[in-house]
Amino acid sequence: MAVQMPSAGLQLMHRLLRISTSGQRGLRSRDALRECRRETRTFSTFSVKCNESKGDSSDPSPPSVGLPSRRMRSLSPLERISSLLPQDALGPEVLQLRERDHQDPEQDANIRVSDTQEEDHGATPVEEDDPETPRPSDAETSVSPALPGESPLAFGELLVAEYRKKARVEFRKMFELQTGARLQSSWGVIPHDDVAGLPAGRFVKTNRGVRILVHRASLEDYTLYMKRGPAIAYPKDASEMLMMMDVTEGDRVLESGSGSGAMSLFLSRAVGCKGSVLSVEVREDHHRRAVLNYNRWRAAWSVRRGEEWPDNVQFHIGDLAEASPLLAARGFHAVALDLINPHLVLPAVVPHLHLGAVCAVYLANITQVIDLLEGLRCLALPLLCERIVEVQIRDWVVAPALQKDGRYCVRKDPVLDQDQREDADRELSAEEHPAFGSIPYIARPHPEQMSHTAFLVKLRKCVR
Ligand SMILES: C[S@@+](CC[C@H](N)C(=O)[O-])C[C@H]1O[C@@H](n2cnc3c(N)ncnc32)[C@H](O)[C@@H]1O
Repeated sequence: MAVQMPSAGLQLMHRLLRISTSGQRGLRSRDALRECRRETRTFSTFSVKCNESKGDSSDPSPPSVGLPSRRMRSLSPLERISSLLPQDALGPEVLQLRERDHQDPEQDANIRVSDTQEEDHGATPVEEDDPETPRPSDAETSVSPALPGESPLAFGELLVAEYRKKARVEFRKMFELQTGARLQSSWGVIPHDDVAGLPAGRFVKTNRGVRILVHRASLEDYTLYMKRGPAIAYPKDASEMLMMMDVTEGDRVLESGSGSGAMSLFLSRAVGCKGSVLSVEVREDHHRRAVLNYNRWRAAWSVRRGEEWPDNVQFHIGDLAEASPLLAARGFHAVALDLINPHLVLPAVVPHLHLGAVCAVYLANITQVIDLLEGLRCLALPLLCERIVEVQIRDWVVAPALQKDGRYCVRKDPVLDQDQREDADRELSAEEHPAFGSIPYIARPHPEQMSHTAFLVKLRKCVR
């Protein structure tokens, strides 16, 4: 398949990704998106070309295809562009805007009507089922006994609703299961009461007959979708930082700034109930956001597991550069820094880091890394820079090749005689279950990837 993208389109994609990967910049994303919408008017002819005859199932069509009520409406530039991006690359702000754009007034009216007319629920499906979406078997639809430790979904839990089509996530939303509430999407409505009591990981039908997967939010989901103050340490980077610092159950870790509380939660899980995290934040509003996010996750966890998430993070308001009195008589197994000008706080921090232990620093720009190294050189701190890394995750698309009409493509064998030619030309319907190895797959890097998030610097305390 050839992916063709005008350079203006590429620039715009990068711009959207930049908006979605920076929380601080993301706060200004609405203005930027409005600007982007203006720009995208000239970008609407952007296409991902696919060669059907080669069994390519890439679908450049927007998420709305297949819904009669939406066929009538032309797509907004935001829908066109964001539907081409992997959902994981989109920040919650962009997803919310996209979802809001997705709902047309007609549909809003439908949703309001369905508040009082429950018969709407279970109406004739209007969305063709994606052949790749697992279909419920008789065994699945009947209530199967729970495995040991398995519990049904309960009010107060944090869940993720997800709809995929052609191996692409079209809709993804985190929500708290609440009595009487409704999950609204462009694919229909699901009353929360219908979800409570179900096993996690089930497809639930909307009132439009579309099957939406509902599962429990992982900590990664939560940190990506929770309300943000400043930009978070992205999960891919947070896990590498945990590895760099070799954080273990029972460790005492210093973290700064608390920001939105994402790293605090990852550290909290890593040190467990025997360990502790001291999280220092200079801004009161960010401190409040981090504490709120931390407490919300803990509350939802208690409902999920029936036991407390360890209350092991002490949030403190203050400038880490002036925190020597707070740190006095404390020793840390590791330090995680995600703040501007880390070299300014290191003189206060380093005396309290165990010898041989690691301080991991998260920095967005390589120029900041240079400033940090210059700071270390001038201050002659006992820190050795062991590594500077960028964590890159490459998403792939691997899926059965489908034709435009949803039928499987057929693997073409070399044709020797007429009988074989007829057999080879036979078309497979999506309902058929072709034998193992008989259908071709598409398998290639996803055309849109998450862009840069951060550089991670590993500093080890050592004496010469
Ligand atoms: C990018 S955010 C940290 C995000 C956090 N790691 C997370 O995952 O949510 C950076 C934070 O550092 C704070 N900060 C900057 N300088 C600081 C300092 N000297 N002492 C404490 N906090 C500071 C900022 O106010 C901001 O909230």
